[in-house]
Amino acid sequence: MARSEIMLFLEESFRSYPTVPQQWKGYPLSRYLKGSIPIYIRINTLKVKPKHLLDLLKKKGIMTSIVSPRIPFVATVDRGSNIGFLPEHLAGYFYIQNLASVLAVLALNPSANDIVLDGCAAPGGKTTLISQLMRNKGTVVANEIDKKRTVSLLSNISRMGCTNVIVTREDLTRIPSSTWEERFDKVLIDAPCTGDGLLPNKHEKLRPLSTRRVVEHSERQKKLVQTALKLLKPNGILVYSTCSFTIEQNEAVIRWLLENNPNVEILPADIPFDHFEGFIVSDDDLGRHISSAVARLFPFPHQTIGFFISKFRKKP
Ligand SMILES: C[S@@+](CC[C@H](N)C(=O)[O-])C[C@H]1O[C@@H](n2cnc3c(N)ncnc32)[C@H](O)[C@@H]1O
Repeated sequence: MARSEIMLFLEESFRSYPTVPQQWKGYPLSRYLKGSIPIYIRINTLKVKPKHLLDLLKKKGIMTSIVSPRIPFVATVDRGSNIGFLPEHLAGYFYIQNLASVLAVLALNPSANDIVLDGCAAPGGKTTLISQLMRNKGTVVANEIDKKRTVSLLSNISRMGCTNVIVTREDLTRIPSSTWEERFDKVLIDAPCTGDGLLPNKHEKLRPLSTRRVVEHSERQKKLVQTALKLLKPNGILVYSTCSFTIEQNEAVIRWLLENNPNVEILPADIPFDHFEGFIVSDDDLGRHISSAVARLFPFPHQTIGFFISKFRKKP
């Protein structure tokens, strides 16, 4: 499907939700979908200090820039550099990872003694960052349904030197409750979605976007977050993220979660980077509360892929 058709689909779908947060006003909605975004690397501090890696790259003529002092292990890289073939990449010194993807893991805030579930894990960008932030301590269960994608997940875990990760290949929505129920301190659901947030990544082949696909994904996402809730310990933290711009796969899914589960509360996404509030699905207290708690990232002005991040606590 052509990029222009995807843009049109999204603009029309946004227009059907008339209440736009104050923060978004000033430009037509289509403006937020366009913009060139840099290549980002996430430096693997399990293997190398950021300064050391950036010096190594500089010696090879590759210029980098740390994105923010608050995220000292993420840098942008010269557009022209073919960094995927560098020995430093193959050795796991860095992962080519969009800043938005890093921010979802920072919202989860895993710590050394946690038991964490990454429910939809392949190819492992977020799993390996979770492991990095836990300094290879605690336990990460990285689960993935797809056999082929599990191969890349395993390979990335090995390349990045993550030794606190167990890989499982299950349909998360069919996990036997007795095995995993209330076992996890933190759960990340980086959900399968229509992937339209990758629109600004010119090299990405985009899958077609249609109302039917959006609805199908949204139904699957509801099942995944519902399962995640079951697997969390009381007081446990859930982060739900997607790389879709659509409201149906984001604010609408989490509104459904909150309406159907009195034992869950939404928390501020709390990410250390500039972002927008969410859409207001219905102009009521819950709609406004969701909008102010979640984080949306856009090619313009945030210079990331389109991304959605939300965070919850399971009440005791
Ligand atoms: C957006 S991708 C995850 C990307 C990954 N978190 C990363 O950062 O590298 C979603 C993944 O969920 C997997 N998936 C889809 N349905 C699933 C299910 N029911 N149980 C487990 N994994 C599932 C897909 O195969 C896909 O690999």
